[in-house]
Amino acid sequence: MASPILYMGPIRGGTDHIYRNTFAAHFDGFDLAVAPFINCIGTDKIRPKYVRTLLPENNTGMPVVPQILSKSAEGFVGLANYLTDMGYDTINWNLGCPYPQVARKQRGSGLLPHTDKIRQFLDKTIPGLSGRMSIKTRLGREDKSELFALMPVFNDYPVEEIIIHARTGKQMYEGVPDLAAFETALSMSRHPVVYNGDIRTADDYLKLSGQFPEISRWMIGRWAMVDPFLPMVIKTGKDTEKNKAEKMKVFHDALYDQYSRVLHGPTQIIDRMKGLMMSFCLGFTEDKKTLKKIKKARTPEQYEAAVNRFFDTVEWNC
Ligand SMILES: Cc1cc2nc3c(=O)[nH]c(=O)nc-3n(C[C@H](O)[C@H](O)[C@H](O)COP(=O)(O)O)c2cc1C
Repeated sequence: MASPILYMGPIRGGTDHIYRNTFAAHFDGFDLAVAPFINCIGTDKIRPKYVRTLLPENNTGMPVVPQILSKSAEGFVGLANYLTDMGYDTINWNLGCPYPQVARKQRGSGLLPHTDKIRQFLDKTIPGLSGRMSIKTRLGREDKSELFALMPVFNDYPVEEIIIHARTGKQMYEGVPDLAAFETALSMSRHPVVYNGDIRTADDYLKLSGQFPEISRWMIGRWAMVDPFLPMVIKTGKDTEKNKAEKMKVFHDALYDQYSRVLHGPTQIIDRMKGLMMSFCLGFTEDKKTLKKIKKARTPEQYEAAVNRFFDTVEWNC
């Protein structure tokens, strides 16, 4: 079987450039990352500061595809072409964000029931782009029939690839991915399709790749933040790393160091690290008491003491 192409999924507030670069310095397995979305703004307002997280000098760890959340074709084209001028060939359109405050404004998954608006968007956008567009979507806002109605629309445009998270927007992250619906959408696509949703273990990947042998591109979001070894285990088919807990501590410390350099003040730094620890802890045996101490930490000293205790006492459990 050919080696799978693995994508780091975008997690806003999670997989920023610091995380992506530090990940690449400590782990293998991902071929590229789709960056968390940036919002669209008026074309005349774009400033390097606004796209700092995407500046090429800040993205040396792995190839990156920027992502834009927008329902305005003009805004998308302006920002996408700005990013293309920065060196990015492909820009991803976020058609999947499930959060009600986004969807209510017919952005992200909120646009999925509006097939005509999506066609109008693509009609205006595609001819104006100096690079290529890929799309990340869900099965629909309310129902999978929405994506079935959209696949023929996507087929009419030169889209690079369609990344499908096999849930509806309304589902958020609940329930299980609907593999039958994914299969139907896949059979309708003339574009390459990337599978996304609930690849938590190498076994999950093996089952899915057995079910969809025609898929070669796979995106992993949350579960590589819990288990950063997962992409490499999937890639090589081997799980040989002996000292996972120690490696996680080294990874944690590198992230802590990097965020301490760029964020402003201990509160920002600790909040960022606490967020990451809430993912990391899921890969370890449970220790509610120490976790509570991490959550309650207010100063760097408290945070460091709680984290050191965590890594000293818990065991890797993935
Ligand atoms: C906190 C959070 C933030 C996310 N941010 C984005 C985002 O910026 N863009 C996007 O396309 N998907 C985003 N996602 C969705 C993930 O990329 C992915 O599609 C989803 O988590 C399912 O894949 P997984 O089961 O591998 O995590 C986010 C998910 C979570 C939980």
